[in-house]
Amino acid sequence: MNIKEEIIKLKKELDVTIVAHFYQKDEVFEMGDIVGDSLELAKKSMEAPTENIIFCGVGFMGQSVKVLAPQKRVLMPKIACCAMAKMIDVDYYNMNLKILNDAGIANDDILPITYINSSAEVKAEVGKMGGYVCTSSNAYKIINKGLESGKKIFFVPDRCLGQNFAKQIGLKSAVVGIDDIEDVKNADIICFNGFCSVHQLFTPEDVDFYREKYPDILVAVHPECDPSVVEKADFVGSTSQLIKYITEEIPIDQKVVVGTEFNMVNRLREKNTFVLSSTKPECPTMNETTLEDLHNTLLSIKNKTYENEITISEDVAKYAKIALNRMFEV
Ligand code: 13P
Ligand code: SF4
Repeated sequence: MNIKEEIIKLKKELDVTIVAHFYQKDEVFEMGDIVGDSLELAKKSMEAPTENIIFCGVGFMGQSVKVLAPQKRVLMPKIACCAMAKMIDVDYYNMNLKILNDAGIANDDILPITYINSSAEVKAEVGKMGGYVCTSSNAYKIINKGLESGKKIFFVPDRCLGQNFAKQIGLKSAVVGIDDIEDVKNADIICFNGFCSVHQLFTPEDVDFYREKYPDILVAVHPECDPSVVEKADFVGSTSQLIKYITEEIPIDQKVVVGTEFNMVNRLREKNTFVLSSTKPECPTMNETTLEDLHNTLLSIKNKTYENEITISEDVAKYAKIALNRMFEV
């Protein structure tokens, strides 16, 4: 029996659901019982009928499932961490708030929103301040909801997502530590200076290159791309929204160039689909999970040794859940 057959056999024997994000390597992705973007994975995993969840993705995704469904055992074949999520911790979060306080913006005038790509600890801080979690598929809605409070939005950790949605809504944004403090004080959406190292690879010059080469090509990008790229795109969306647009909404012979992770783009369509970069934009940590890791995790359930189980302290889970549930309520 080869490793794929063994995985399929173990899956049938055990009380387990395998969850995989679109950025996983093809062979791992194919083993997923549930696949989707960050929002769909959080929702569907929470509702999965099994006691065990194996999450093939990055740490914040597994943590979100554990926060939302603490009764489940969540295991990760690799404890892979999203580089962007790593850019902020509770100390950095508080340091940024202190900068805002020193500039005359009190905590009572700030509503924090964290992109789901953040640790449970950061989500908990946001939860304690009455804030929300958002994902790339619902950021527009959540930011608009947050604005109803009349407060300034403190958006963490992805500055690009904050800047892109501010622009879409027609509001001012500024980044702490990059923009002048006066601009920060005047901004409606104040962004933490985090970013995705993979989506930073796409440049406006890449868009120009493809438009010149194929004048009728469409450009579709993820909102983690720099605003200079997003403003040149025909379509902006989460991973699921990009897939739907490219595989269902545009004609099969329409050329499209896509600004997001390589594994996902590569399996979209056989023809007429290009990656918006001369490099191979793979997410290094998403790419770490292998079939061998997945197999070992399944064996650990069988042997009751439970490798790489996600645990979260009660206090952190309580407040992180509040911030996540506020998102679901919207
Ligand atoms: P999605 O929510 O669009 O799947 O994005 C997750 C992510 O990490 C993109 O880099
Ligand atoms: Fe994080 Fe970027 Fe990888 Fe997405 S692509 S998981 S944001 S490092």
